[in-house]
Amino acid sequence: MSLSQANVAVVGATGAVGEQMLAVLEEHEFPIGELRLLASERSVGKKIRFRGKEHAVKLLDENAFEGIDIVLSSAGGSVSEKFCPIAAQAGAVCVDNTSAFRMDPDVPLVVPEVNPDDIALYKSTGIIANPNCSTIQMVLVLDALNRVNPIKRVVVSTYQSVSGAGRTAMEELANQSVAIFNGKPVEKKKFPHQIAFNCLPHIDVFLANAYTREEMKMVNETRKIMGIPDFRLTATAVRVPVFSGHSESINIEFESAITPDEAREVLGAYKGITVLDEPEHNVYPVNGDASDKDDVFVGRIRADESVEHGLNLWCVSDNLRKGAATNAVQIAQILRERYL
Ligand code: A2P
Repeated sequence: MSLSQANVAVVGATGAVGEQMLAVLEEHEFPIGELRLLASERSVGKKIRFRGKEHAVKLLDENAFEGIDIVLSSAGGSVSEKFCPIAAQAGAVCVDNTSAFRMDPDVPLVVPEVNPDDIALYKSTGIIANPNCSTIQMVLVLDALNRVNPIKRVVVSTYQSVSGAGRTAMEELANQSVAIFNGKPVEKKKFPHQIAFNCLPHIDVFLANAYTREEMKMVNETRKIMGIPDFRLTATAVRVPVFSGHSESINIEFESAITPDEAREVLGAYKGITVLDEPEHNVYPVNGDASDKDDVFVGRIRADESVEHGLNLWCVSDNLRKGAATNAVQIAQILRERYL
């Protein structure tokens, strides 16, 4: 089966991820019959251009999904919790970018390069979950390497941009930076501390085990996506004063020997990964390389000399692209081509 054109609703169309959803749908030439842009009443009537045409934003309510085939949802967890089941009830399939359903055993959690066949499991709930942004970029790297040499353990530290916390967070970084340059007091709303010129080892809430929820998302979502319930991974998630792009320092221990050259070859051959690794020419991935790109960029691949079989590497991705919109649109594309 294949639906030649899908009617698509974007929930949270006015947000940072919503904007990228529309950009990726355009760039990927996703065949769309009707496009419905949905947001809160604050945005109703606002015009957004898509494929050269103005589309008015409509109110997200119980009747918003009539005739819709695919919903791309990115308006926060509580909105998804309420509206994804309503969309599914109305006959649509929801690709949900929030954490609301990710660990629900009846909802597939999908990175198309890693576990595309899990998409088929959407049928019981009508929902497919898009993983956490930091998890997606890392799991591409882990899956590529784990396929050739089983991984024993991973230690990851993230350097995450503020765009992952939405438009208001980006405004907060900009406003605080301007205030500091002008000798004015900074205003804090979104983050518990000043984010301008600061690194905050705190993303999402703290849990009983002293990790943050963001850190445990990386552990639990990786296990679910890779289908390895006891996969050993530990994470430290840090918010840094960067507008766009997440970076990660990833330390991987393997069952058997692997050289940096072998890893470069394996990663370079994996769909969705670009290796940028010529340190002698100062070539390694930085945020600008990943900006508005769909790929995950990897460099600084080197042996971890403190263990028998280990590698260190640096991984950068546009968190609003592969970390959110691109992954969701890729899922939607497979859905349309194979299941609808
Ligand atoms: P709106 O612009 O009308 O507030 P971001 O993550 O960049 O902050 O964006 C959040 C997105 O989610 C926006 O499109 C926002 O719409 C939307 N949104 C937030 N709360 C609701 C809600 N209760 N109903 C519908 N859309 C919502």
